Amino acid sequence: MSAVFNFTFVPWFRSVAPYIHLHRGKTFVVGIAGEAIAAGKLQHLAQDLALIQSMGVKIVLVHGFRPQVNEQLAAKGHEAKYSHGMRITDSVALDCAQEAAGQLRYEIEAAFSQGLPNTPMAGSTVRVISGNFITARPVGIVDGVDFKHSGLVRKVDTKGIMRTLEFGAMVLLSPFGFSPTGEAFNLTMEEVATSVAIELQADKLIFITEIPGIRIHPGEAESEDNPIDTELPLATAEKLLAQLPNATQPTDTAFYLQHCAKACKAGVERSHILPFAVDGSLLLEIYVHDGIGTMVIDEKLESLREATADDVGGILQLIEPFEKDGTLVKRDRTEIERDADLYTVIEHDGVIFGCAALYPYPEAKTAEMAALTVSPHSQGQGDGERILKRVEQRARLMGLDSIFVLTTRTMHWFIKRGFVPVDPEWLPEARKRKYNVNRKSQVLVKKLA
Ligand SMILES: CC(C)(COP(=O)(O)OP(=O)(O)OC[C@H]1O[C@@H](n2cnc3c(N)ncnc32)[C@H](O)[C@@H]1OP(=O)(O)O)[C@@H](O)C(=O)NCCC(=O)NCCS
Repeated sequence: MSAVFNFTFVPWFRSVAPYIHLHRGKTFVVGIAGEAIAAGKLQHLAQDLALIQSMGVKIVLVHGFRPQVNEQLAAKGHEAKYSHGMRITDSVALDCAQEAAGQLRYEIEAAFSQGLPNTPMAGSTVRVISGNFITARPVGIVDGVDFKHSGLVRKVDTKGIMRTLEFGAMVLLSPFGFSPTGEAFNLTMEEVATSVAIELQADKLIFITEIPGIRIHPGEAESEDNPIDTELPLATAEKLLAQLPNATQPTDTAFYLQHCAKACKAGVERSHILPFAVDGSLLLEIYVHDGIGTMVIDEKLESLREATADDVGGILQLIEPFEKDGTLVKRDRTEIERDADLYTVIEHDGVIFGCAALYPYPEAKTAEMAALTVSPHSQGQGDGERILKRVEQRARLMGLDSIFVLTTRTMHWFIKRGFVPVDPEWLPEARKRKYNVNRKSQVLVKKLA
């Protein structure tokens, strides 16, 4: 084994450890678009899900089957019919859906049953249990369109699912539900996954989809300046949804986002949209700090917000002790009053208990994050990180490529969050002139993806 391998593997594995501990015992509802299976991604997805489950995560898997049903319909010479972005399920389409679901369940169960030596599935034992966990009701007639056997979720057998998860099994759901009269209804994967995540109050709802996530400027084409927004606060997601047209295709921006926002609003703290096109996207999202897709997060926006002139007193009170002990550079009231709109604050019950400022240097496409502070009573609960994420988002919206910090005592906190040390010579000219050589601050830069 080469020494280089030891130096890369060991730190890498240790860097994943906090996420393994964090997710153990949590419940994730994972919705896989039928397109992912049609694109041949099932084997790798099953391997990743088996690994995640073996690390103590309880998984409810919901599969979609849009292309598979359409394929069956085409084979029968029957046209797929949609309205209001939903399938109209006549009796032929219902037959096709039942056939497609049966076939997919069989393929998924087979994928989780593998265990050949020298494969990621060696030694894994994943019990997959499906069942009649969903009660459905008909969509009915909408604007004169009869949706026939298309349904909506009426009830989720939460107890049944929980008991199955506690038994150590993975729950597999097809987008089907049954009415008390025994009638079957064709549902959508997105609605089933969202309803189950809400009813279970799952820790995460994850969609593995044909899109890479939501871009910073969703209406504009993919480019280096328009990357995926890795973290979308619920309120921003809702604002965006209000501006978007109703989604009819899975590739429409609002399609998965509306379900993520709904789940988030109903208490599922984090919902994710990931691309199946990227091999291992699930692992990259769950076990790597910055993730790969878009995470919609209910970060209680009323408490995390941009500062106003009214917050100056609270900010001063918060940073003063850290200025006194030399952790932060002294800033006077006039300076903070002048720059109040550059600050992001966390407020709770009228008290400011976290803040950071962002001073842009647009000529160098960068900005300095300064005065990052969390009240000593609230430290260690992730607020520092929430502020950082928000500041990063503000910087991205300004079209900047990076943010930097100057610090004398908090290097490791920043390094853990993707900053890298650079020489002070790196600083934009205007900032270099103000660099206090005696303070010997370390300069750290984070590139914004
Ligand atoms: C740095 C600071 C903003 C972090 O805020 P926070 O809300 O506690 O941060 P989070 O909850 O997101 O992260 C907490 C983690 O950071 C670690 N941490 C806190 N201060 C650290 C430091 N100086 N160096 C390295 N890690 C540190 C904690 O031990 C904790 O680690 P854990 O999750 O492994 O237990 C906060 O400690 C603070 O206000 N410090 C004083 C002011 C300061 O140094 N600001 C930076 C100026 S450049």
